[in-house]
Amino acid sequence: MPTPHIALDTRTERKRTPARSRLAYTPEVAEETRELYNRVSKVITPMEWPAIAPYVKAINDLKKEHNAVILAHNYMTPDIFHCVADIVGDSLQLAKEAASTDADVIVQCGVHFMAETSKLLNPDKTVLIPDQRAGCSLAESITAEDVRALREAYPGVPIVTYVNTSAAVKSECDICCTSSNAVQVVESFGVDRVLLIPDEYLAKYVATQTDVEILSWKGHCEVHERFTADELQAYREAEPGLRIIAHPECPPDVLAEADFTGSTNGMIKWVETHKPQKVLMVTECSMSDNVAVDAPDTEFVRPCNLCPHMKRITLPKILESLENMRDEVHVEEAVAMKAREAVERMINLPV
Ligand code: 13P
Ligand code: SF4
Repeated sequence: MPTPHIALDTRTERKRTPARSRLAYTPEVAEETRELYNRVSKVITPMEWPAIAPYVKAINDLKKEHNAVILAHNYMTPDIFHCVADIVGDSLQLAKEAASTDADVIVQCGVHFMAETSKLLNPDKTVLIPDQRAGCSLAESITAEDVRALREAYPGVPIVTYVNTSAAVKSECDICCTSSNAVQVVESFGVDRVLLIPDEYLAKYVATQTDVEILSWKGHCEVHERFTADELQAYREAEPGLRIIAHPECPPDVLAEADFTGSTNGMIKWVETHKPQKVLMVTECSMSDNVAVDAPDTEFVRPCNLCPHMKRITLPKILESLENMRDEVHVEEAVAMKAREAVERMINLPV
């Protein structure tokens, strides 16, 4: 079953619902959004579309008016991912695209640390996040003070910080990494020992891919830590021929059950290349919907773990964000200067 698309957070929707007058499902709206619906018809039902289409049209019109671009993470629901986003991708790709956009306004459809990264790379642009409360359990697991304490406890050991952290944490580290370049980043120092924080499981995975000794922290992703090896074994038994692909934020015993481990973009590319008959993507649930749109011959088996933070971003909130230019993301300049260096070092690593 595809995941629900329109606002989960109904209490907030009521408070922030934008101008209703523009949101009727008129014949013009139906005509203008027909091609988009054809694209997503495998994952959005015809009954849902009349509630979605007016938002899609209003958002796409407002983007033009404001010279705005929507950057959407792979975990956004398909109405956002396929119908209003200009650029989609994993954390690394979104950071790179944020660095090169010439739009005046960036609307970040993802979580807060992603919006901060876009702001770091575009200090003079307006960066909006449709819901400031879209956080991340990894980003919350560590503070700048914790990083300073690690620096003191491990003098001379380079500190690599996963992008899933606040700008303040990034400002205390030597370089950032994402799940798609973490091995390359830890090896870039040419030293025997590196701190890779705050995701314990990503660090453990990277340690299996390199000779560099990896020290870490006890942060976990609340979505990926819920998967279990038992659950995956049960799916394999019930679904003959099933291929399992997993995100490195999963615990090690879960990754041991997987045929492939990679970032969200890595997982998407794996499906495109291998064209499996049946696949289970061990990651946030909406990604299977998004990938299913372009993989008509693949059956997606899904234990549906949703990220409550990513799911705060909805079409009504994106529209409200563009109508009222809110919520704007700011990063204090002293922090931004150092955090920007850490992100840019990562982006500028030779591929
Ligand atoms: P990716 O960089 O692989 O997209 O991961 C981001 C994230 O938040 C995964 O939970
Ligand atoms: Fe953070 Fe996990 Fe949600 Fe990604 S899926 S934003 S790591 S809580």
